[in-house]
Amino acid sequence: MPDRPPSDGPELPEVQMHLHRQDEPATGVVVRNEVCTQKKAAGFVRHIEFDVSGSRLAGNFRTGQAFGVLPPGVDDKGRPHSQRLYSIASPTRGEQGKGNIISTTVKRVIDEHWDTKKLFLGVASNYLCDLQVGETAKLLGPAGKRFVLPKNHADHDYLFFATGTGIAPFRGMLGDLYYQSSPRSATLVMGSPYATELMYHDHFLAMQQDHPSFNYLTALSRERQSDCEEGLYVQHRLSTHREQMTELLSKPTTLIYICGLVGMEMGIFKRMARILPPEILSQYLRVDPEAGEIDNWSRKMLHRKLKPTRRVFLEVY
Ligand code: A2P
Repeated sequence: MPDRPPSDGPELPEVQMHLHRQDEPATGVVVRNEVCTQKKAAGFVRHIEFDVSGSRLAGNFRTGQAFGVLPPGVDDKGRPHSQRLYSIASPTRGEQGKGNIISTTVKRVIDEHWDTKKLFLGVASNYLCDLQVGETAKLLGPAGKRFVLPKNHADHDYLFFATGTGIAPFRGMLGDLYYQSSPRSATLVMGSPYATELMYHDHFLAMQQDHPSFNYLTALSRERQSDCEEGLYVQHRLSTHREQMTELLSKPTTLIYICGLVGMEMGIFKRMARILPPEILSQYLRVDPEAGEIDNWSRKMLHRKLKPTRRVFLEVY
């Protein structure tokens, strides 16, 4: 890829959208439902696979997209539950390469009601996590067309940042990148409170063993890591690996993908602004002088005074 102005991003593939809607959902049969964190994890996160053979979802989804789930039952107003979107965690060719098995990563939502302080259980997440192999669910989609790998995905270097279940699309994308061809390089930074909560950890370690161009970094926020002190967020890896990150971000072929908790993108942009020379930063983020001091940057400025370029892909929720 030639050196391009910052506004110019890579060409994205055409994607299929909304092949199944609420009035005509696809049927997915659960073929796998297993914990995907480490032993003794405090939370409950499961990797769930659906066989969608015979539906229009089969062969027509792309990693980075999401699918909808229609939980059974009605909401507190007596209306049928609306769809919940879950990121696809499988590669574009599905779990077994035939395009018919689609997966996602689901964290059980277990909380207290903010006013009554009574137990609150997330409707869709607990429904999905409770599904047994052989049971079916109503699925919709696919949805989303911006958060995908580019057409010529082997021509790029990648920097992926994930927090929590934001890892799902990157499991799929790394599958596309390394099972089908090989990218120039890919670095994954995974943020999690404790080592026990890291998802697909063994999978990424094995991938790193098999593919020297894949680099897997973790950022634990509530526990000390062997190479640095406690309290690491994903953006801190830009500093702990400053030389490597600056070199990676200086390449005209590098793309950044960010997925997970809302707010993580600002932490990443602020840290990039601190470590990168302006001519490199501007390849990813166009900063209006009115944005002022980095410390005062806020989410409200995003897409106005702080404009990510088309080399940055964002999916935060
Ligand atoms: P913490 O909650 O310790 O402050 P999970 O979804 O599994 O809880 O993981 C989310 C991870 O992302 C946690 O380590 C959490 O840290 C971290 N995190 C929370 N807010 C941000 C943020 N604004 N930027 C980057 N990481 C964050």
